[in-house]
Amino acid sequence: MGKDVIVACDFSSKEEVFAFLDKFQDEKPFVKIGMELFYAAGPEIVREIKKRGHKIFLDLKLHDIPNTVMKSMKVLSNLDVDMTNLHAAGTSAMMEAAIKGLTREDGTRPILIAVTQLTSTSEERMRDELLIDQPIDRVVIHYAMNAQKAGLDGVVCSPLEAKKVHEICGNKFVTVTPGVRFADGEVGDQVRVMTPAQAKEIGSDYIVVGRPITQADDPVAAYKRCVAEFVG
Ligand code: C5P
Repeated sequence: MGKDVIVACDFSSKEEVFAFLDKFQDEKPFVKIGMELFYAAGPEIVREIKKRGHKIFLDLKLHDIPNTVMKSMKVLSNLDVDMTNLHAAGTSAMMEAAIKGLTREDGTRPILIAVTQLTSTSEERMRDELLIDQPIDRVVIHYAMNAQKAGLDGVVCSPLEAKKVHEICGNKFVTVTPGVRFADGEVGDQVRVMTPAQAKEIGSDYIVVGRPITQADDPVAAYKRCVAEFVG
């Protein structure tokens, strides 16, 4: 899998996302479309961005019964996205059903990655609300192994977990890591951050970068800086 910078297009309308993408003339960044934009603008936004030549990571984090996930993944696959995801907590049966639904007649399918534990979930809440007694890093690795066994291609994880995931699941198992900030940039609400260069060093396969690019004075320059630091 090639290393790449994925730009999180966390906008709430078609107009905003196109105003942003119009700034890019020579480059065609890999873009992440999340729930906000997808629910606001619908599947058509995926087709339109794809038509402009961008690769798309559709970040909808599916979690439902296997049959529903299989059928929904089939719809997403027909949208021709390049990468999509689900919650590993949906269990192996759901993950296997997802792969079945995603796989096209010619055998191709988008990259499928799993969310292990959301970074907003603390160990305390896991224990008190979800009744999961294990340490959070153990849970993350265990869910990554479940995902790999079910045939998924990788996981979304913090850059700090990427190394461990690769050690346990191998280097071909893809790590997609948000929480990236420039050394001289603002951290915002992210708690555990890494620079693109550090993410490269620890072996992340894809970094997901939002505000450091979307809110920059010169988003194209910020994107190019990210690519230069991460891909080299
Ligand atoms: O703006 P920023 O670079 O913080 O954006 C990071 C993106 O990655 C956002 O779309 C955010 O929802 C997503 N993300 C994250 N942390 C996770 C999972 C996803 O920041 N654990």
